[in-house]
Amino acid sequence: MFQLSSLRRHWFPVCRARELGRRPLKRALLGEAIVLFRTDDGHPAALRDRCAHRNAPLSAGWVSDSSLVCPYHGWRFDHAGVCQGVPGRCGVAAHPSRSVPSYRSVEQGGLVWVRLDAEGERGLPETQPRTQGDAVAIGEFTLTASLIDGLENFLDPTHTHFVHTGVVRDGASRRRVTAMVRGEPDRVEAEYIGEGRQSGLVSRLFGMGIDSSVGRFILPATAELEYLAAGKSRLLIRLFFSPVSERELKVFAIASGSSAPLPAWMVVPPLRAMLQLVARQDQRILALQLANVERFGSEQFSSTELDIMRPHILRLLRTDAAGEAAKPFEQQVDLLL
Ligand code: FES
Ligand SMILES: [Fe+2]
Repeated sequence: MFQLSSLRRHWFPVCRARELGRRPLKRALLGEAIVLFRTDDGHPAALRDRCAHRNAPLSAGWVSDSSLVCPYHGWRFDHAGVCQGVPGRCGVAAHPSRSVPSYRSVEQGGLVWVRLDAEGERGLPETQPRTQGDAVAIGEFTLTASLIDGLENFLDPTHTHFVHTGVVRDGASRRRVTAMVRGEPDRVEAEYIGEGRQSGLVSRLFGMGIDSSVGRFILPATAELEYLAAGKSRLLIRLFFSPVSERELKVFAIASGSSAPLPAWMVVPPLRAMLQLVARQDQRILALQLANVERFGSEQFSSTELDIMRPHILRLLRTDAAGEAAKPFEQQVDLLL
């Protein structure tokens, strides 16, 4: 089994940058309860959401002078979790027993990222659009699902005919497609060649000469869908999966691409609406899947070669957790999409 705790040294987004203002924000990451706030110079700070005194949630408190104030007896904690004030006490407030654990946090790509473990730092995922000047849209949604099921869902083309009928692909007209699957130490991608434009509404509106698509998983929990026209990237949808717990995910989506020949304001709102619809459809089926797995007590999955990504996602996560690098490979899968 893959353990979520092996991801503690990786960066995960926990909120959108604009959500984090002057008030503390309650979040959870990999089962850990955290509170976020901003110091006076605008930097994000992340602490364990439990006061060292009587364990009240610091997220119910407030920010004052770059410190987080506990709502119960007013203990104050700075960005590093060091207690800087015990109201009514004569003498120095700071003492190791009065500190709360702090986590590294940083702002990038319109999101606030947190890393739970100080040891074995991994780099931040790439958040920049492929091409400078591309229109960018950011969205956020939650899924009741395990990390692996959520990642698999986004990168699996064979559910789209059923869950997203008419939106991504329609159920009637399938074409023979070749998936070129390539693995590298930190990623695996499947390029779907020969489908031409997908049969659903999304491609009809945003077709733009698209002739192939790529589904890509990048360690630790990034999933990308890229649409290409004559080998050039036209639309890139990046999902950053952030595990709240074993059965809940926060997902941050960044879509970027060229809207040409149309202006961005004409393309972005309908694209956003359609992605929200697709997300709602996946939310529903993933919640049903998990509820049924829990109803039966455990997973008992049967797979075919069409379930391209899941084994590779699991293999990459396991090799990474073991501190090893996965071997590169290439394979071909034929399917009807
Ligand atoms: S519980 Fe936080 S100050 Fe007492
Ligand atoms: Fe889906």
